[in-house]
Amino acid sequence: MLETRRNGRMLAPWTYTSEELCELEIDHIFRHQWILAGHISELTQTGDYLTFDLAKERAVLVRDESGEIHAFHNVCRHRGSRVAPDRQGNCGHVLRCPFHGWTYQLNGTLKSVPRPQGFPELKKDHNALVPIDLEIWNGFIFICFEGAQGRSVANQFGVISGKITPYQLEEMVPWGAEYDEVVDYNWKFFHDVDNEGYHVPVAHPALQELYGRDYCDSYLGNIPMTTGVVDDHPASSWSVARYKSLLPRQAHLPEENQRLWLYFGLFPNTVIYFYPEKAGFYMSLPQGAATTRVISREYRLPGENRELAAVRYLSGRIDQITGREDHDLVRRLQEAAHTSVFPMNNLSDLEDGVLQFHQQLKALVPVMSLEASPAPGTLADVNTTLLNSSS
Ligand code: FES
Ligand SMILES: [Fe+2]
Repeated sequence: MLETRRNGRMLAPWTYTSEELCELEIDHIFRHQWILAGHISELTQTGDYLTFDLAKERAVLVRDESGEIHAFHNVCRHRGSRVAPDRQGNCGHVLRCPFHGWTYQLNGTLKSVPRPQGFPELKKDHNALVPIDLEIWNGFIFICFEGAQGRSVANQFGVISGKITPYQLEEMVPWGAEYDEVVDYNWKFFHDVDNEGYHVPVAHPALQELYGRDYCDSYLGNIPMTTGVVDDHPASSWSVARYKSLLPRQAHLPEENQRLWLYFGLFPNTVIYFYPEKAGFYMSLPQGAATTRVISREYRLPGENRELAAVRYLSGRIDQITGREDHDLVRRLQEAAHTSVFPMNNLSDLEDGVLQFHQQLKALVPVMSLEASPAPGTLADVNTTLLNSSS
């Protein structure tokens, strides 16, 4: 993928500060792409539901009596209330809107309406919850608000399936609390930091001690893959030293995965990762040009033992340290985007992932290729013109 460096240019600073562009990104990227919304282990019983908000859109995922998982717009057909108000829960055998009590079967059809004589014209058949395209891949549930139009998750990410099969992701159960925080930077800067390992030796001393000697960024197809093998060298960080010495062998994992930390970038906004003792994901969800919601959840195989619990605690501490360090790095990029001297196109070969990400974005929203922002109010039109001229 190094041709990206030779041919490509980075995104200009205005793309990180424009509210108008942020709306375009949501419309043209997030609403059209498969977005990871949860894991099947969060919906094990009939009536278990999980909600997921993306900018102005809201979804509810629910498991029905036959075991099938559905996704709907979390918008009541009466006057628009959320039918599932909480992040997660169990609704029994119906989704009942908390506003006036319209109830929906778990397959989305409208079941009953209080005081139906007040709606002489109401056609129940025409008032089912509006479905959202959904696909389950290796236990992860993906949704696509605008409709996938034949594009499947399995096709898009299939090239990495062989690498993650040994981890038995479909068998995993949630572990620990969900991380859900709103941060004050652009969602793309979150990935610009995450998409390269050039900064690891300097910015992440603990991670460097853990696997820095072996760290490698590469691609499987066009999917960015990062690997680091936990070595046996002494470490000054208490968590890293303990993790290295305690990490037990796992019978279900091949030899090369026994001490491997493995990450994949799923365009546009998610990283899934696999350590010997757990798996998880983290993602960015834009809420504005400089406001982003960051969500992370983790999973483990059922069956607990003290050794694994201990190493999960330790890797959690290392992740926390790394997360705090990255948070500071991203905030400094956001500050820089507002200065008059934001540097561009000074990237090392080791930062190729940054350019690859930018090129994928420009292909979908070509106005992002411009060095300066179009006049206010014209962004969408300019983008449409560029899209038409390239097709
Ligand atoms: S808005 Fe849902 S029942 Fe009225
Ligand atoms: Fe980092």
